[in-house]
Amino acid sequence: MGLVVTIDGPAASGKSSVSRELAQRLGWKWVSTGAFYRGLAYVAMNMNIDLEDVKALAELTHNPIWNIRLESDRTKVFFNQQDVTDDISHEDVGNFASKVSHFPEVRKALLEAQRNCAKGSENLVAEGRDCGTVVFPDASAKVFLTASSSHRAARRASELGLDHQDMMNAQKERDHQDSSRKVAPLSIPEEAFVVDSTELSLNEVVDRVEHFVRSKIQ
Ligand code: DC
Repeated sequence: MGLVVTIDGPAASGKSSVSRELAQRLGWKWVSTGAFYRGLAYVAMNMNIDLEDVKALAELTHNPIWNIRLESDRTKVFFNQQDVTDDISHEDVGNFASKVSHFPEVRKALLEAQRNCAKGSENLVAEGRDCGTVVFPDASAKVFLTASSSHRAARRASELGLDHQDMMNAQKERDHQDSSRKVAPLSIPEEAFVVDSTELSLNEVVDRVEHFVRSKIQ
């Protein structure tokens, strides 16, 4: 197993952009663990599986009808051999993902696949909600990214061409669900380097994170 750096934070805090850029600078691979929950929710909806049916959801996690592929620009999801990565990026899929992610059975079933991303000699940047606390508690460096709710909503609304206030409401609901669930809630890992990106450019955030990570892995 190579080195692992974790980046956690709430919805639209910039985790994916920062992780992708950091991984590129370090020459590491990266994974968005949110893609596992989004993929599962998307596939369940397409197979008409009830999002409250925990047993069926847990079984679906191991169904070869869908799979995840780590690529340098995105964590891709394939369903029936089709690339559905664009489809899972919608906010409603994010919300369904948040709903299925609160079942302990689902989290447990996806955990091994997420940990497998670190297997092999290549180092890994992993981003999500519980990467530093649960998935990779022994990570070499842990980062927690945050930003004001208005800033996060503005960022995602402009990416998806949606209304700012609607996005703020949707994110508020998702943050609440992700922070209040019993198992592996969104929380700041004890030894994490916390970065508030509200007033910073992407480059400034990545510079700070890279500086911290290099200090931890040297
Ligand atoms: O990061 P994201 O928006 O792609 O994540 C979608 C949902 O998946 C998020 O609202 C909660 C869930 N999730 C999780 O519970 N644990 C993770 N490590 C990553 C995502």
